[in-house]
Amino acid sequence: MKGQPIIDVRGVHKRFGAVEVLKDVSLGIEQSQVTCIIGPSGSGKSTLLRCIAFLEKYDAGEIFIEGELLGYVDERGKRRNASDREIARVRRNVGFVFQQFNLWPHMTALANVATPLVLARNIPRAEAEERAHAMLGKVGLAHKGDAYPAQLSGGQQQRVAIARALAMEPHIMLFDEPTSALDPELVGEVLQVMRDLAAEGMTMAVVTHEMGFAAQVADKVLFIDYGVIVAEGSPHHVFNEEQNPRLRQFLQNYFERNNFWQDDAGRCIVGAA
Ligand SMILES: Nc1ncnc2c1ncn2[C@@H]1O[C@H](COP(=O)(O)OP(=O)(O)OP(=O)(O)O)[C@@H](O)[C@H]1O
Ligand SMILES: [Mg+2]
Repeated sequence: MKGQPIIDVRGVHKRFGAVEVLKDVSLGIEQSQVTCIIGPSGSGKSTLLRCIAFLEKYDAGEIFIEGELLGYVDERGKRRNASDREIARVRRNVGFVFQQFNLWPHMTALANVATPLVLARNIPRAEAEERAHAMLGKVGLAHKGDAYPAQLSGGQQQRVAIARALAMEPHIMLFDEPTSALDPELVGEVLQVMRDLAAEGMTMAVVTHEMGFAAQVADKVLFIDYGVIVAEGSPHHVFNEEQNPRLRQFLQNYFERNNFWQDDAGRCIVGAA
C-alpha cells in the first residue's frame, strides 16, 4: 500500500440544492498520516468528511477507500449507485467520531462500545464486551464501563465514542471537531487520546479548530474555504509560509481569539496546546 493513499478523493463535487458546497476537491490521505482540515464555519469541512464516510452522497468525482470506489459502481463505463451492502463493505474500515458523541443514553459505556460489534459485526456478546473493555482501557476509562453517559463528563463521553469507533478496528479514523462541544478544561484529555493514536500509527483525518494540535500532530494541514482547498502542506508551511490572503485572515482571527501569537515577521508561534 505504500505510496498509494488509503483515502483518495478526486475532483469531488457536492451540492445542497442550488449551493455547491464542495467544488472539485481532491486530496490523498496516506497510511499512518494525520491530516488536519481547517477553515471557516460553513466552508464544507464536515461535508467533506461526511462524503468520505458516505454519510452524504457526493455528486461528481471519485472517492477511493483502500483502492475501492465508494458509493458507486462503474460498470462498462457507466456509473450506478452502489447498494447499501456494497457501501457498507467499502467503508467498513472507516471510523467516525462526531462533535456530538451520539452515545446511547440508556446503555452503559461498556454496552455503547460492545453493542455495535454485536449488531454490525455479529460478534458474540461476551467477546464484544471483552473487546469493549480493552478499548475503554485504551482511552483511560477501564473503570467507567458501568457508567451511563449522563454520569460521565463530556471529555469522558467523547473518549467512549472514540473507543466505540476503535473497537471496530478501523484502518482510518475521521474526527469532526471532536473537542468543540467540550468545556476547555476537558479538551486536553481527548486530544491526548488522539495524540496517542497518531503515535501508534493510526491514519487520521481531523477537522479541528485546535491549531496547537494541528501544528504539533499533523503531517499535513488543509485549509478549505468556500468548498475549495486553497492551501495545503506541512503545518509549518500552512501556518508560517503560505500567503493565501483568506488563510492569513482566518489565522489572524484565530490568533486574536486564542493562545497563539505572531512574531514581528508574522510567523505564528504556537501556544500551549
Ligand atoms: N444537509 C444539508 N442541507 C443543506 N445545506 C447543508 C447541509 N449540510 C450542510 N449544508 C451547507 O453546506 C455548507 C457547508 O457546511 P459544513 O457543515 O460542511 O461546514 P463546516 O465547514 O463543517 O462548518 P462548521 O465549522 O460550522 O462546522 C454550509 O453552507 C451549510 O449550510
Ligand atoms: Mg462542521
